[in-house]
Amino acid sequence: MCGIVGYIGKRDVAPLLLEGLQRLEYRGYDSAGVVVNSPKSGALKMVKAKGRVRDLEARVPKRFAGTTGIAHTRWATHGAPSDVNSHPHLDPENKVAVVHNGIVDNAADLRAKLEAEGVVFASETDTEVITHLIARSLADSLEEKVREALKVIEGTYGIAVMHADFADRIVVARNGSPVILGIGEKEMLVASDVAALIAHTRQVVTLNDGEMATLKADDFRTYTTSGTQTNATPETVEWEAASFDMGGHDTYMHKEMSEQAEAVDRVLRGRIDDRFSTVHLGGLNLDAREARGVRRIKILGCGTSYHAGLIGAGLIEELARIPADAEPASEFRYRNPVVDPDTLYIAVSQSGETYDVLAAVQELKRKGARVLGVVNVVGSAIAREADGGTYVHAGPEVCVVSTKCFTNTVVAFALLALHLGRIRDLSVADGKRIIEGLRKLPAQIEEILAMEPEIEKLAQEYAGAQSMMFIGRVRGYPVALEASLKLKEISYIHAEAYPASELKHGPLALIEPALPTVAIVPNDDLLEKNRAALEEIKARSGRILAVAHQNQEKADHTIVVPKNEDELDPILMGIPLQLFAYHTALAMGRDIDKPRNLAKSVTVE
Ligand code: G6P
Repeated sequence: MCGIVGYIGKRDVAPLLLEGLQRLEYRGYDSAGVVVNSPKSGALKMVKAKGRVRDLEARVPKRFAGTTGIAHTRWATHGAPSDVNSHPHLDPENKVAVVHNGIVDNAADLRAKLEAEGVVFASETDTEVITHLIARSLADSLEEKVREALKVIEGTYGIAVMHADFADRIVVARNGSPVILGIGEKEMLVASDVAALIAHTRQVVTLNDGEMATLKADDFRTYTTSGTQTNATPETVEWEAASFDMGGHDTYMHKEMSEQAEAVDRVLRGRIDDRFSTVHLGGLNLDAREARGVRRIKILGCGTSYHAGLIGAGLIEELARIPADAEPASEFRYRNPVVDPDTLYIAVSQSGETYDVLAAVQELKRKGARVLGVVNVVGSAIAREADGGTYVHAGPEVCVVSTKCFTNTVVAFALLALHLGRIRDLSVADGKRIIEGLRKLPAQIEEILAMEPEIEKLAQEYAGAQSMMFIGRVRGYPVALEASLKLKEISYIHAEAYPASELKHGPLALIEPALPTVAIVPNDDLLEKNRAALEEIKARSGRILAVAHQNQEKADHTIVVPKNEDELDPILMGIPLQLFAYHTALAMGRDIDKPRNLAKSVTVE
């Protein structure tokens, strides 16, 4: 999705902003642009380009000096990707520059009104409306001009504004799209993602919705859109700048898959309580009495996080015996859901920014529900909006498709399920058993990662398939769903996931030698049932790749993974299939970290 970077200080701003944009590349975009002010005259100079940041870089002239600037990467919503539709947007007199993330819902009305007043628009974007509104304001200060413009705008925004007549400042505002200030020594930064700030400062202020800020080189202040001063204290970001680098791997996806053992170790650290065979989750804000009162749990997320939620719901039902299910947040928010006071809602999101999830959380809160967040990015919108929750501590994830975050989210759900279970009816012995299983995970993940050469060979063998079927039963079904999503996202091979139990009710008609099936076959009480499904496929000459705890006779190939506790097996069984999707996509020459048409976090409708 779109990204913003801004800087005010003493340094030559263009290279710094371009480097910042590169840090945001992972979020997905189709064009980029930058504005800087001339140190002497204060006049604004702009360069924009359709394409990647390197296309923009190639266009920036040698002499492009400036010490204040704002830059943007755009993911087209209103108006196709093009040079002119890229941000920043300037007014006709080149006085005001605006970069914007989000969507102005009433842009068409405002545009018609402005055009009737004689304003000529240069682009097809909704953002340009904001530029003209600011430029036409008669207010005395830049802050007041921006405030006036925001008063008539409906929709979501994170914006950064420069004005040639107010060259000592950048004014920013947030409503539904992240704006983070980076507090430096005699320099200030702003960005939509800490990734763009962390090379310069780890002191940050995250704006709330309805908040604005003025950045000057040696000072910043925050206030609400109605002008009331707010007291923001900078917080220290724990992520290391180096964790945004590729660290010797060819792709971020590979790096992130390989980090899963240490990431799981991190989510477990300091949380296990051996004395009571349970775990402590500090931020839940749900005491034992309240936890006992929960009659139902509903988990909401999108994409991979939704799949993590499905596994989470299974864990909660098994360990805590609370009825639980997961639903795509994008569906939930549009179906006028019945909100029940005894249901605990859990929003899952790696980024903590996904608009569909955030909107579902806001709707739930409006209806008086209690919502917890299971989120990776500390201080993100969903984490802040929720009543409590737990961070999954996976560290930054840059590749568009999620791997280590998925694994850590599922482990976080196992912790939550154990915690709720031990408050309710899970025995000490079962609590101990699950804790022992959790402790084994990092070493078992390492074992699976060491199987990469073998999985690479298998992937090369299957890379020619036009389509693939993924099956699993009960605990294995969400694993199949996630593995199928991973394959489609990065290889563009069509893939379907079905419960193994449903095969005979329809999809069996598809089985033939050209349609390989990946089957999740854990060694649990459903083993024989799963074997029967493999036989049905084999009888129709279907090729089978099994992920199992022992070699499967009916399968053409088996990836044998280490066995954990039955309830925790799904955490491990998906990992070889991440590697499988990765090597399939690699064999097909795909752009793995930036799959076509996708963005890392979808912050718009
Ligand atoms: C996008 C990404 C997916 C991701 C989903 C949810 O669609 O392409 O990979 O799973 O958003 O993201 P979240 O940050 O909420 O987990």
